[in-house]
Amino acid sequence: MSDKSYIPSSDRYSNSVGYNYCGKSGLKLPRISLGLWHNFGDVDDANEALKMILFAFDHGITHFDLANNYGVPAGSAETNFGKMLQKHFGSYRDEMIISTKAGHDMWPGPYGDWGSRKYLIASLNQSLKRMQLEYVDIFYSHRYDPSTPLEETMGALSDMVKQGKALYVGISKYPEDKAREAYRILRENGTPCLINQDKYNIFTRAIEQSVLPLAEENGIGFIAFSPLAQGMLSDKYLHGIPENSRAAQSYGFLQKNQLTTEVIEKTGKLNDIAAQRGQTLAQMALAWCFHKSQVTSVIVGTSSVKQLQDNIDALKNLHFTDEELWRIGELG
Ligand SMILES: NC(=O)c1ccc[n+]([C@@H]2O[C@H](COP(=O)([O-])OP(=O)(O)OC[C@H]3O[C@@H](n4cnc5c(N)ncnc54)[C@H](OP(=O)(O)O)[C@@H]3O)[C@@H](O)[C@H]2O)c1
Repeated sequence: MSDKSYIPSSDRYSNSVGYNYCGKSGLKLPRISLGLWHNFGDVDDANEALKMILFAFDHGITHFDLANNYGVPAGSAETNFGKMLQKHFGSYRDEMIISTKAGHDMWPGPYGDWGSRKYLIASLNQSLKRMQLEYVDIFYSHRYDPSTPLEETMGALSDMVKQGKALYVGISKYPEDKAREAYRILRENGTPCLINQDKYNIFTRAIEQSVLPLAEENGIGFIAFSPLAQGMLSDKYLHGIPENSRAAQSYGFLQKNQLTTEVIEKTGKLNDIAAQRGQTLAQMALAWCFHKSQVTSVIVGTSSVKQLQDNIDALKNLHFTDEELWRIGELG
């Protein structure tokens, strides 16, 4: 597809996934965001990857979530996304929220992991090069580093904003007490935390008592990753492991041993509740995330346009009765 052959849908905003303000900030995020952890690396189908990005943008999904280490090999998701941007979206950059992160193992030696200023700043510079961007919209500290003073990690984030290399900053997977401290430091630095990114789905709810209320109290948005528990919260594993699924791949992060008999049994029961609501299980699982008002957006990782469409349709029914919430809670 050449640069000129892609013209975004003219009703991408009038007929879109809808937007929520990110905490008390002035930034709106689409209710569904697209994550590029899996399915956008060099080992994946490049045609489908492009189709998903275009389809997302055509449906008002303006937010694309990346990290330095996404894709196989690590970094390839950013490189591939950068090529797609250059070729197809050159003039639409201002309509997009692009995030990246650093915090996990990325390159050898003592400066390619965790939360030092040295690592974070070098990593952002590399990410910008791979994506051929001048700035990212959101830069995250990808995980809390117990061996680096929080002032150093947060100081690096603040400087990225001051240098214009990131417009906003966020944190991911921080324990509650460290998140509280991070919010304070970032506020004192004059670069308030925009958003907290953590795992949230029907099977993983611990943050409801900690991270979510704390984010709200601090006016910070919350974005849920793995809202489908990497695909376990869909009907795909009910009758075995399909050949092209994440659990079947040697390089994916979903391990076959996570699909225990207990999980499959629960999934079957959840699937029945979803059917009674007129939804697929994936749709119900995404809709369910929004029963907590603090949730700004859910980041889905999809392997096909069909899945992305299915997920967008989740927004057609976000209402849950108390009884449904109770029955789902019993299976979580
Ligand atoms: N901050 C962090 O530490 C962190 C960690 C993890 C993820 N993330 C972010 O969150 C994003 C999403 O995470 P995730 O990929 O684990 O999300 P997920 O949405 O829970 O799982 C994605 C997988 O679910 C399956 N799926 C998606 N839609 C489906 C549908 N409608 N029907 C059936 N199956 C469906 C697909 O599996 P198949 O491939 O088998 O088709 C897909 O690869 C990542 O891309 C990344 O941006 C952040």
